[in-house]
Amino acid sequence: MIEIRRIVEREEIYRGIDLWNKIYPSFLINSFLVEQNIFTPFDGIIVSAWGVLEESNLLAFALTKYLTIPIVENGKKDVAWISLLVFDQENIKSDSIKSRLLETIERYLAEQEIKKIYFGRDPQNFIPGLPDNLKKDYLPWLEKNGYHKEGIVYDLYQDISTFAISSEIRVLEQRLASQLAIKAVTEDTKRIFLSFMKTFFPGRWHYEADNIARIPGAVQDYWLLWLDNKPVGFARTNTSESLYRGPNVNWGSQKGRLYCGLGPIGIADSYRGKGYGMYLMVKIIQNFQQKGYRHMIIDWTDLLSYYARLNFKPWIKYYLLYKNL
Ligand SMILES: CC(C)(COP(=O)(O)OP(=O)(O)OC[C@H]1O[C@@H](n2cnc3c(N)ncnc32)[C@H](O)[C@@H]1OP(=O)(O)O)[C@@H](O)C(=O)NCCC(=O)NCCS
Repeated sequence: MIEIRRIVEREEIYRGIDLWNKIYPSFLINSFLVEQNIFTPFDGIIVSAWGVLEESNLLAFALTKYLTIPIVENGKKDVAWISLLVFDQENIKSDSIKSRLLETIERYLAEQEIKKIYFGRDPQNFIPGLPDNLKKDYLPWLEKNGYHKEGIVYDLYQDISTFAISSEIRVLEQRLASQLAIKAVTEDTKRIFLSFMKTFFPGRWHYEADNIARIPGAVQDYWLLWLDNKPVGFARTNTSESLYRGPNVNWGSQKGRLYCGLGPIGIADSYRGKGYGMYLMVKIIQNFQQKGYRHMIIDWTDLLSYYARLNFKPWIKYYLLYKNL
């Protein structure tokens, strides 16, 4: 007897994660991420877990999230995300069972007045889209079920132990060093930081920062770029020690022990194109290099040529997918 239902037991949710980890070991989700991304949702996010069960066997697992408050003032809140989806391919051969799980989820989300579903890229995401190496298992089936591709993004990687800047970047660095200062955000500068984010990056990045800043100490992984006494840019870095772990370190352990992540990064609009973004990144990379970190990841980006100037190369490719309900 096959049963498709919502999962509300902690132990069953961990069984769903175990199934994901068994089938996709290259995207291994550890318990820190489960606690953070599933059991401690950001403000206004409703998380639900779903399973396909045969007797006591879990044959499929899905995680959905939707918003009850808009991320931006007066913005939309009728979007939802399939955060994770995994099938035990050996035991669940029929596409119709998989599609019934999807229908169950979509019916529930439609009842919550959701108009659009994204695959991945949820707040506190594990994946920003469908990973390329899962394409064969999912893409044709998702497309048959009404999901559409809308772009490709990448996680980028660089071994920073040998990071060195080009002569062109060295000139830039020397020119800007006397004007700019980079400082980690502290409890004392938290309000300035959040107000900067609200003004210049009022969407998801402000929403994330606002939620992360509620966790004691977690704001310290943000950096502000100062011109005189004014913040003009920001970045976030993550390590396996971060109190909040942004998604750029989700898969970092694949590369080895000494991994870290950079992003998001943003410069206030009127200060763009002056080399400030490059300068901020160079200083951050050098800082992590000096601390002995080796593997640096930038997640979820399509700015390949921009980051290539500092030697970052594509590592994991993802397809952005959506469905209108
Ligand atoms: C991307 C961003 C951080 C770059 O900062 P910046 O200070 O404007 O960039 P820089 O002045 O250091 O750029 C140096 C070079 O990169 C190029 N560049 C800048 N933005 C680029 C982009 N989006 N794609 C490709 N190249 C880009 C510039 O043309 C410049 O080249 P040049 O020296 O030949 O003129 C900034 O534009 C920004 O905040 N954008 C919005 C947020 C964003 O997209 N962040 C990255 C998300 S992954």
